[in-house]
Amino acid sequence: MKLGFFDSGMGGLTVLAESLKLLPAENYLYMADTKHVPYGTKPKEEVRAFIFEAVEKMVQEGIDALVIACNTATSIAINELRERYSFPIVGMEPAVKPAVEMNRATGKRALVFATPLTLQMPKYYALVSRVDQDGIVDSLPLPELVHHCESLQFDKLIMGEYFRAKLAPYDLDKYGIIVLGCTHYPFYTDILRDVLPPHIEVINGNAGTVRRLSALLNRYGIDTGLGSGDVTFMCTGGEEAYIEKMRLALNLLR
Ligand code: DGL
Repeated sequence: MKLGFFDSGMGGLTVLAESLKLLPAENYLYMADTKHVPYGTKPKEEVRAFIFEAVEKMVQEGIDALVIACNTATSIAINELRERYSFPIVGMEPAVKPAVEMNRATGKRALVFATPLTLQMPKYYALVSRVDQDGIVDSLPLPELVHHCESLQFDKLIMGEYFRAKLAPYDLDKYGIIVLGCTHYPFYTDILRDVLPPHIEVINGNAGTVRRLSALLNRYGIDTGLGSGDVTFMCTGGEEAYIEKMRLALNLLR
């Protein structure tokens, strides 16, 4: 049994790391669409074609289930992917619902960080309309952040300044929670926490996604626990150096 994880680049590794904790005895195939990353600043139709091309390559390798470990790709293609393939497919969406629930007691607002494309898609609008009855959710696109991550820009000062500038228009006393609605963003959780006042929590949907994966495997009657935690990396550009970079990044996350 092989579990496929797909992202435009390294972001999905933050979800895979979570999966290796909850489901350590599986075999994994991780695919990064290095030829086309970043997705979140490109036109929707273009990105849709990239996703289908990359996922088809994974299918050729033989996967039994697929996690679209990318909020942007999920919002564009999850329904069509499920129509095309019969194996279970788990998608991601910004953790807006838990954020609203956690904030109900405090009366504070929630701020969702995601790519411009995720925030433009009807799926996001529908999600917020469904769960945000009190109108406490604000959204902030971060068009540069995936590029920073892919370039391994993790300098505390530079990235601290980046977040400070983005947050400057907001009165942070009014906020209780920030939702990381892109799988690349958790790489910056610590830098972001240093910039934020201590009362603001930072959450992402990775653990919830892996719990859904586990439940879905059970529901489909797929045998779990028979693998060795082995991870095979692939990227559409086929760059060996990138594969090495992913291996190192995953080790840092574990
Ligand atoms: N990791 C993707 C996400 O969760 C980033 C998409 C991109 O390449 O811009 O949205």
